[in-house]
Amino acid sequence: MTERFTKAAARNIFYGGSLFFFAAFVSLTGASHVYVVEKSTDSKGLTESVARGKHVWEKNSCINCHTLLGEGAYFAPELGNVWVRYGGDKDPDGARMALKAWMGAQPSGIEGRRQMPQFHLTERELDDLADFLAWTSRINTQNWPPKVSG
Ligand code: HEC
Repeated sequence: MTERFTKAAARNIFYGGSLFFFAAFVSLTGASHVYVVEKSTDSKGLTESVARGKHVWEKNSCINCHTLLGEGAYFAPELGNVWVRYGGDKDPDGARMALKAWMGAQPSGIEGRRQMPQFHLTERELDDLADFLAWTSRINTQNWPPKVSG
């Protein structure tokens, strides 16, 4: 009886399979990149103040307690959609004021409530932070998180 599954066949399947899946990996990575750059990101709205606001966010380690689009710590609320929660999609000035009022009123000192520190941010830092959170809320996350409260 002849051997049907030869060493050469096994080698070809190995190389062919590796090549096929490598090509699939590269093209899907490319597709994700194009999607992120052209579809899900608001690149036109990516202003200087948004970039500065991101630095305010990073410098003060907000992520140590909060999540931003699901990434971060689970001690405090998700902030990727806090702008929408504050009504910023309809009334940006109102949301900006609400954010500033919130930042100024911490820690609340209310017994039994988790506390957020006072960061003593300047007016400009607060404006940059608002711009950053507004921009973040415009990222197309394909409806995640499912609830505006989350
Ligand atoms: C030590 C933990 C901690 C850090 C760090 C922190 N926060 Fe908070 N934050 C909280 C907690 C706890 C709450 C919820 C408090 C409450 O509900 O009374 C909160 C709530 C908020 C809210 C209101 C959310 C809502 O849904 O109404 C905003 C806005 C916010 N934080 C922004 C920030 C920003 C911006 C930073 C960084 C400059 C930051 N936080 C850093 C703990 C933190």
